[in-house]
Amino acid sequence: MIADTTAINRQRSWFIEGNSLWLFGYGSLLYKADFPYLECRPAAIRGWKRRFWQGSHDHRGTPQAPGRVVTLTEAAGTRCVGMAYRIPPEALGPLDVREKNGYLRFTTELTFLDGGNDRGLVYIATEDNPAFLGPAPVPEMARQIAHSHGPSGSNRDYLVDLAHALRRLGEEDEHVFALEEAVWSVSPSPS
Ligand code: SIN
Repeated sequence: MIADTTAINRQRSWFIEGNSLWLFGYGSLLYKADFPYLECRPAAIRGWKRRFWQGSHDHRGTPQAPGRVVTLTEAAGTRCVGMAYRIPPEALGPLDVREKNGYLRFTTELTFLDGGNDRGLVYIATEDNPAFLGPAPVPEMARQIAHSHGPSGSNRDYLVDLAHALRRLGEEDEHVFALEEAVWSVSPSPS
């Protein structure tokens, strides 16, 4: 089912003070930064892992045939590597629209890979949102990704672009890389 978190996210603005804030991207925000930012730095957050468990009805799929995109799920002792962007607060409005299908603003502690830390904002689609799909066997998720397309492009490209961006950061993400490998063995759907 489709969600719309824009109104809730507008109220989650308690952390906005000053002229800029850090945004942590771990999915499409990691490789598709089509928003204004002042600087970007590779960073990690602790206690979360990246999973293709969120349905995409608006970007990489459709309401009739949703795709699968990443969200974060809690996992003690792990860390998730991504990109931190220092953004002006006015960048958040369009980001809320981009992330509206189930993602909520949370604040978290960021550790920059080149040293230091700060608080930042992260969009997470928790398992109680209506577009949440949850886990499934890798071949099943790979089939869904291989066959899904939406207004932002193919779901396969979302996965492959994310895998490339993680490699550029030197990050080994077994979940993403296993899906990337599995997706290549799925034959394309007839057009
Ligand atoms: C993110 O990239 O940080 C959120 C999930 C997505 O847009 O893919």
